[in-house]
Parts: sequence; C-alpha cells; structure tokens
Amino acid sequence: MKYIDEIKLTGKRVLIRLDLNVPLDKLGTITDDTRIIAAKPTIEYALDEGAKIIIISHLGRPKGKRVEELSLAPVAKRLSRILKRSVSFIGDCLGSEVEEAIAKMEKGDIILLENLRFYPEETKNDDDFARKLASFADVYVDDAFGNAHRSHASNIAITKFAPTSVAGFLIKKELTYFQQALENPKRPFVAIIGGSKVSGKLEALLNLLSKVDKILVGGAMAFTFLKARGYFVGASLVEDALLEKAQEVMTMAKERGVKFYLPIDVVIAQSADAKADTAVVPTQEMRAGWAGYDIGPATVLLYEEALNNAGTIVWNGPLGVFEAEPFSYGTMEIAHCVASSTAISIVGGGDTDVAIHKAGESENISFISTGGGASLELLAGKTLPAIVALG
Ligand code: 3PG
Repeated sequence: MKYIDEIKLTGKRVLIRLDLNVPLDKLGTITDDTRIIAAKPTIEYALDEGAKIIIISHLGRPKGKRVEELSLAPVAKRLSRILKRSVSFIGDCLGSEVEEAIAKMEKGDIILLENLRFYPEETKNDDDFARKLASFADVYVDDAFGNAHRSHASNIAITKFAPTSVAGFLIKKELTYFQQALENPKRPFVAIIGGSKVSGKLEALLNLLSKVDKILVGGAMAFTFLKARGYFVGASLVEDALLEKAQEVMTMAKERGVKFYLPIDVVIAQSADAKADTAVVPTQEMRAGWAGYDIGPATVLLYEEALNNAGTIVWNGPLGVFEAEPFSYGTMEIAHCVASSTAISIVGGGDTDVAIHKAGESENISFISTGGGASLELLAGKTLPAIVALG
C-alpha cells in the first residue's frame, strides 16, 4: 500500500475519500468535529503540493435516498473554518454540476461533494457508480479510516477504476497505533472493554486474550459474564445465548494467565433514567427488578490499581450509562485514570471517544481512534477491506 506522500500531486485532481460522518444535533449543528480535524493533515499536504482537491464522504444512513438533514453542506462550512480556506459545496456527488465544477478547478481549490449514501449504489459497492466517481480523479486517496471496515463503492470498487490509489495520513496514523499496540506492546498491556453487549465485542475479546496481560470488563456486558459465573444479576441486561461463550472466554483467560476483571460492585437502579433512585451494592447482592448501570466505587479503585503500572492501555466501550449523571462516575474516573497514566493509551472511537471528551481528557490520551467499528475489527485481529483494496 502506498501513501499520499509517495506520489506526485502537483496540478492533479486528487479525489479524497474522508469519513466526515460527524454527529449532528436536532438543529443540524455539528456537535463533534474530531473527524473533520483529523482529516486536516491529508488535505493540507495535498494543498501544499498544489493539487485540486475533491472530497467525498458519507453522513449518516440515508438508505440510498436524498435526506436533507443528512446533507454535507454544514460540514463544508465547518471544514472551511478549520482549514481557513474556502470550500465549495456541490449539492450532488455525480452529474453535470459536479463535472462542470471540477473542469473549472485551479490548483489549491477544494470542493466537497454531497453525501455519497444518497445513492443506493454506494453501499452496494456498485462498479458503475465507482467508475463515475473515479472519473473525477487523477489520484484517489482513501483517508476514511472510520469507514474502512465497510465494502462500499467509494472505498472498494473505486480502486479498480482510479488511475492511482493511495492512503492518507489518518489511515497511516490509525494503523500505526493499533499495530504497535497489538504486535509490540509495552507491557503490562491492559485492555478495558465495555459497552452493552458481549456479542459485539466477542471477537475482539478472543483476539485480545492472546495479546494482553489484563482485561477489565465494564458496561452492561459485564452482567453476561457475572451470570455465567452463577451470580444473580437482577434485571440487568444479559445475553443468555452467550453465557457458555462468556464462560469459555473466562476459562481461556485463566489458561493463558490473563487476569480477567469483573466489577465487584455496581450502581443499580430500576431504570437508566437520570432521575431514578440509585444504590451501590456488591455484585453478589443485586436486587430483583433492579439493573446495573455503572461500575461501583470499589470497582473503580480495583481497576485503577490494575491500570497503575500499565505500559499500554487499549479501551473500547464505556463502563456504564455515562450519558446520565448518576451512572457516569465509573467511566469518568477511569477516563481520568487512563489520561494520567504514563502508558501508551489508545481509545476506540464512538461512545468511548464521547466519554473521553465528556471527561475533558481528550488531550491527555495518546491516541483516540476516529473509527468505532473499524477499530474494533483491528482489535479482533481482522484486516480491513478498504486497506486490502489499496494494497
Ligand atoms: C462510523 O461512524 O462508524 C462510520 O462512519 C461508518 O458508518 P456506518 O456505521 O453507518 O457504516
């Protein structure tokens, strides 16, 4: 796989696939522009080289139809502010308007095309759609790490038609951090795995078992493990179909000498509502009708102790329903602990990224991935289709 700095860009039409899938509030305002900021090095490099830059991306899941709320128009404005240069937005990603705009481009111009997913062909990895997109490019650059686990026209099929296909600096940075952690970690290597379901994290857990020294489990997924151990878990979320698998994971951890930590106390309530009555109980004393929504303070201390001498920390998934104040303590405290650690810390995108921001610790983490699903695939030891396509 080649990177953008290994080829000549001067005067060329450089089509850059980014993941500008940013969260928007009800009024269409961007609530987190991390992904836009992360795209800067690649765009600025292409600008310095005197390229004509055409950017493509998806936003949300419009299911092949034009959905005005999922237009990339507000992203063009934010991108322009971040780059401190004008970014022209075209309200389609194909067609005569796009072709005319590209034909008029000068060196240093930047165009952002409309949401690729307004066309059903994008997620179908359609060849004709990809061929049309590729016709805009002398060079195709994929820097959409967050989308690299998807096999879509703008990151897979397009590589068959573009004259040259390379990766950008964000992809390089993401792969470097994950490879370093997974292949050559500074030890002890500690994984913190949270989130609601074991099913989504099972492959990552199995792969990590052969790499890490400790696994700290939190979030609702902990209750499937606790139930598999024979604990009563009240109304907590449990994936009964995975009880055996959960037991297998714990047995494998023991056989491999990996310390597998589960919460020793939890914050319980009768609903995850921020106004619900809560109580802190030892994990052995869960109440009928009450569910666990956060790790308790004793677990926080235990996990802080386990993280104390870490050389590498990988964290994917919050440890409780941190969005609601009564259930945020565990995730926030562990965020502060990871942030103050001298370990190389890598946080998987998505919810964990939001939690780190809420804790005000985003500057103190070695690397926050821009990909939720994509980073989870890397933790599971899988190759990403978009990376394979660039190879
Ligand atoms: C993401 O946010 O994980 C990526 O942008 C991919 O989006 P998707 O899950 O809708 O394919």
